[in-house]
Parts: sequence; C-alpha cells; structure tokens
Amino acid sequence: MRRSDDVLWVTCGKQVVSKKKAEHNNGFHSLIIVILIWIICYSTFMKNNIVLIGFMGVGKGSVAREIVAQSGMVAVDTDDIIESMENRKIKKIFAEEGEPYFRALEKRVAKWLRNSVDNTLISTGGGFYKVPKLREMGTVVLLHAPFETIYQRIIDHPNAARKLKKRPLFQEIDKAKALYDEREPQYKKMANIVIDVSGKDYETIAKEILKKTSR
Ligand code: S3P
Repeated sequence: MRRSDDVLWVTCGKQVVSKKKAEHNNGFHSLIIVILIWIICYSTFMKNNIVLIGFMGVGKGSVAREIVAQSGMVAVDTDDIIESMENRKIKKIFAEEGEPYFRALEKRVAKWLRNSVDNTLISTGGGFYKVPKLREMGTVVLLHAPFETIYQRIIDHPNAARKLKKRPLFQEIDKAKALYDEREPQYKKMANIVIDVSGKDYETIAKEILKKTSR
C-alpha cells in the first residue's frame, strides 16, 4: 500500500488501484457471489411445480385438465394418488379409517411430492393446503369463488349426486359452508397467486394461471 498526495493506493490482484475503486470492485464481486449462491439454491431447492388449491367443487380437476391441454404439462392429483396407494375410494377411507388417517396420507403424499416431483401440475384435495411446507412444493395457486357459486356449480352438473356423494365433507350444506368460511382466509394465506374463477370458463382460467406462472 502506498500514499500519493490525496489518494490512498492499494493493490488489487496484480494491479494498483485507488482505495475507492478497490472498494467498488469488492462490492461488485460480493454482489455477483450472492446472486450466484441465490441461483444455485433456487435451482436446487425451489420446485417448478404449480400447486392448485381451493375448496371442494371449485373446479381444480377441470382446470388442471385444461392446463394440461394448453401447456402439455404432466399433472397429478393428490386424491388420485391416495386412492391408488390405498386401493379404495376417498369416501371409503373416511368411512373405514376416519379423517385423521386420510390427513396423514396427505402428509405422506406431500413429502413425496416435495422430494421427488418437479415441473408438474399438482391438483390437490380441498384440505391438502394444510400439509407442512406446502410452498416448498412449487407456486401455490388458489382457485377462489364464493360458496354459493361453488354449490351451484356442483348441483348444476349432470352428475351432481355422484359429485356430492364422493365428498364426505360436503354431505350437509351448513357444515360445508362453515368449513368454507373457516378455510377461505387460510387458503389466501397459503397462496402465491389467487385466481377468481367466478363467471370464467376453464380455458380462460387455465390461460390466466399459465400467464401468471410465466409458462
Ligand atoms: C376434502 C376434499 C376432497 C377430498 C376429501 C377431503 C377436503 O377433495 O380430498 O374428501 O377436506 O376439502 P376435492 O377438493 O377434490 O373435493
């Protein structure tokens, strides 16, 4: 290090530069290192999945199928995975084992998805949003609609009776509404993106999701 009249000179590698420039270079190098570490961590730990959450009957399955049609993404459904793990329907699992058993299965599926699945559209059951570390699974997209719209959508469906029968937590409308009121704020807390689906067709909803998740 040597001093001239008004500038302190320091060695930076083989070059002799002003202290001000050396500080600037160090700052710049630190920034590059931080950015590189962030990119490595992001690509190692962050998943590129889309995770669809929302209340029973809001249309997660139908929207998932439309996203697949528009983007060619591969899709999985947590309820389907559970049914094939158990070789019985959700309704039967609830009736024979009870809800806590089903929730434990959801947690197991969540762990597997977190560890093993990427670049996939994950459609979930209405209570799946409660599993630990949901956001580590990918971008969480909430499909939102008022309860009345959801209920109307179910009863207008040609298979309305079957749609209601297969959902153990949608057997009594008052209880379903209370569950909706309890969950809606929690869904919003978990979501990275909220899509209001009221009055929109599946094609429009899927396009909006693909755009907002930069696909
Ligand atoms: C549930 C929703 C169902 C299914 C199970 C429990 C819930 O899935 O996972 O009956 O807790 O809201 P859908 O949201 O596809 O109906």
